[in-house]
Amino acid sequence: MAYKVGYFVGSLSSTSINRTLSKALIRVAPDDLEFTEIGIRDLPLYSPDYDDDYPPAARELKQAISGADAVLFVTPEYNRSIPGALKNAIDWASRPYGSNAFDHIPAAVIGASIGSLGTALAQQSLRAVLSFCNARQMTAPEAYIQFDRDVFGTDGSVSDGDTEEFLRGYMAEFREHIARVLTVLPRT
Ligand code: FNR
Repeated sequence: MAYKVGYFVGSLSSTSINRTLSKALIRVAPDDLEFTEIGIRDLPLYSPDYDDDYPPAARELKQAISGADAVLFVTPEYNRSIPGALKNAIDWASRPYGSNAFDHIPAAVIGASIGSLGTALAQQSLRAVLSFCNARQMTAPEAYIQFDRDVFGTDGSVSDGDTEEFLRGYMAEFREHIARVLTVLPRT
């Protein structure tokens, strides 16, 4: 049986290095993971005023998460934290109160930056948010990717063998994490 993974790219940039990283991750992932991007671009800014009647983009977001076995976040770091567009999507998904789409979902975070910190602080912020949302996060391995355009092709190819093996191992561990979580917390 394949696991359905919904993935978020935390960047709206047309030249996003994190989108490139997401392609690389999908390329090296175990065969029994099926990936669908969960879009965040068309969401309005969240307000509790919408709680009685979510707009179509927000309904689609929640349905996409509900239909996934697991979620993967591939995100840049903005000003040492989570990009606003991604936080907005998480806020939508977590509401209305009592229908948090992330409850018990297997989750993993990863990100790329040009700088050497490799989104470490954004990932810490994101982990805190996902903890409150009761997602079941993979705690290890961590993956802070310093993006090198000579290594990552825009088609998801990775020219450095050690980097490719690291990403392959990360996705293999994520697959095991999903299997473990779903054993005790099956998606309904
Ligand atoms: C950045 N960047 C950045 N990089 C970093 O390592 N730590 C940071 O706190 C920030 N802050 C930041 C804020 C804003 C508003 C922008 C636009 C950029 C640089 C960032 O890593 C770089 O632009 C990446 O290319 C962003 O990822 P995507 O959008 O290409 O996936």
